Amino acid sequence: MKNIGLVTVSLILSILIGTVLGRGQDTDEDVSSKKIVIGFSMDTLKEARWQRDKVFFEAAIEELGAECKILSANSNDTIQMQDVQSLITNKVDVIVIAPHNGSVMGKAVQLAHEAGIPVIAYDRMINDCNLDLYISFDNVKVGEIQAQYMVDHLPIPGHGKIIRIFGAKTDNNALLFKKGQDNILKPYIERGDIEIIHEDWAENWKPENAKKIANAAITKYGASFDAVLASNDGTAMGAIQSLKEADMAGKVLVTGQDSELVACQRIVSGQQSMTIYKPLKAVAETAAQSAVALAQGQVLIARQSVDNGTLAVPSILLHVIAVDKDNMRETVVKEGFHSEDAIYGQ
Ligand code: BGC
Repeated sequence: MKNIGLVTVSLILSILIGTVLGRGQDTDEDVSSKKIVIGFSMDTLKEARWQRDKVFFEAAIEELGAECKILSANSNDTIQMQDVQSLITNKVDVIVIAPHNGSVMGKAVQLAHEAGIPVIAYDRMINDCNLDLYISFDNVKVGEIQAQYMVDHLPIPGHGKIIRIFGAKTDNNALLFKKGQDNILKPYIERGDIEIIHEDWAENWKPENAKKIANAAITKYGASFDAVLASNDGTAMGAIQSLKEADMAGKVLVTGQDSELVACQRIVSGQQSMTIYKPLKAVAETAAQSAVALAQGQVLIARQSVDNGTLAVPSILLHVIAVDKDNMRETVVKEGFHSEDAIYGQ
């Protein structure tokens, strides 16, 4: 269990899931002879980010000598609920869920628990349930980094007119990104130094919905704003398409997140200003290792906790890094997330 041992303790939360959830009936011999199967219910595989998560997760599970069953719900709550039910019917040992809707999937956690199966929330929190473990990034920090970058890089730093594109309201992370952005923007807005001329939520994080939001701002205010505070690379892409049609691409600061290859290419070509590198390999490996450890009835120690409305969920939150054209090579390329050729060799 490479990573589990590395988790040092500030807030120690010990969880002996196997015992707590009544998986104690297997004998030692049964446990060691059975191949562990981990279910992974994903919201979507339509975005580049989640395709990477899937590949990293599969590889980590294989390296641990376990098996995984991965299902994707195509951004549909009913399908995701059925996916979890099917993983329960298949008697997987642990279920990992990247929820489309963090409020709806509490019911899935309850069903899994009734079947004695522990559940890990992957990247996105599942609210109001007795979730066993949450593995993600510091998502408030993501929002803070985006807003701070924008504030510092406005044509007149700390001053300007902006539009904001939030993510999917159904995704707890979208709320956390907004919260982090608000933390930074508040004093600037209160002083009147920064003015939000338009803002909206991009349903299901879709670029086409982000494009509509940017279109609405341009129709109403023309080329009068300095920045688009977009919450991820997909929404940045939608906004940039809209900016291109108005001949504003490259003239307006645009934020993002995920370090998608196309976003990195847009950054080096000057259409997008920044993104955020989230080490997906590390998050997928941590989830895979934790899932297998839980399946083996091991005690996991989480260094943090995050309140999901029902309990302080033991949590492992990884760090993120701001990326722009100046540190692209030292971050995304150095980490092997994308090759230099892929980014620059267009
Ligand atoms: C993830 C982001 C991603 C977004 C859209 C969020 O929950 O944290 O990395 O861009 O969902 O898929």
